Amino acid sequence: MLKRIERRNAKLGMFIHDPHLPRLDRWVGGFLLTTNQDLERVQRSNLETVVIDTGLGMDVEDYRASTTAPTVWLQSESHIDLLGAAKARVRALFADARLGVSSFDEADSAVRAIYRSILADPTALIEMSRVKDDEDDLQRHSMAVSGLMMQFAEFLDLAPPTVQVLGVGGLLHDIGKIYLSSDILAKTAALTEEERNAIALHPQRGHDLLAQDPTMPELVLDICLHHHEKLNGAGYPHGLKAGEISLAVQIATLCDVYEALTSKRSYKPAWSSADALSSMSQTLDYFDEELFNQFRLFVKQTFFNQDTKNTAACL
Ligand SMILES: [Fe+2]
Ligand SMILES: [Fe+2]
Repeated sequence: MLKRIERRNAKLGMFIHDPHLPRLDRWVGGFLLTTNQDLERVQRSNLETVVIDTGLGMDVEDYRASTTAPTVWLQSESHIDLLGAAKARVRALFADARLGVSSFDEADSAVRAIYRSILADPTALIEMSRVKDDEDDLQRHSMAVSGLMMQFAEFLDLAPPTVQVLGVGGLLHDIGKIYLSSDILAKTAALTEEERNAIALHPQRGHDLLAQDPTMPELVLDICLHHHEKLNGAGYPHGLKAGEISLAVQIATLCDVYEALTSKRSYKPAWSSADALSSMSQTLDYFDEELFNQFRLFVKQTFFNQDTKNTAACL
């Protein structure tokens, strides 16, 4: 909800609504006040009032209810808090899905929390995947793919509503894996044919679960059903070829593969960005070459400074 407040009442943790901000901020049309510098900038401005979005940040009432609230939004803690809030929403979303409930609204709320986390720290989600914690692998992967897809979509200058729905598609692309046992998902030995067949069903099963919500966007269903298709026709479940695979699905596929390679799993260590991109460049018949080149540029621009191990040579 948008609310106009006096400038002097602006506090850390509030989301300042401004539809004219550029770049990452533009989708939600504003920014989260996470640093004292930003807060001072707002308070010293010549505006009498500012508009806050209470759906994306703290409300004036939150500060009346608790005098300690603002301290949790200080710079050093805010990234962790935002990431924790996003994780909690995703956990609840997947718990509902395991009970057979599919809700676009819930997924959309979780995506907004993920987006806020990216605004505060663009590397938060991809870094989260490199370190194995007690978070469920599937949920962590889904969050990271969602964040990557939104960031890549913004890099490609796609329209804000499309960025948002792509984020939901990324979050839900593997939802069909909730039907697989954790033994199969964590298996380090070679899979049996029966296990491979069970895994191959996850796009269709996920699609069928999501389609129960009549408000689920077609684009999200498309991503869920087709994210394992490959441009050379070697993918599944339908063996689609170039020209039959949407841009949304191609964005999802690139982000999905990159995230899987750069994340730590029970059966493999986390690869560097350089190794992941190098491996992906060996299979260019799976991806559109021009889109892959854009993806490589996007990774360089977004993560290069934080990922200096041996990235430069490959990028
Ligand atoms: Fe998948
Ligand atoms: Fe995936």
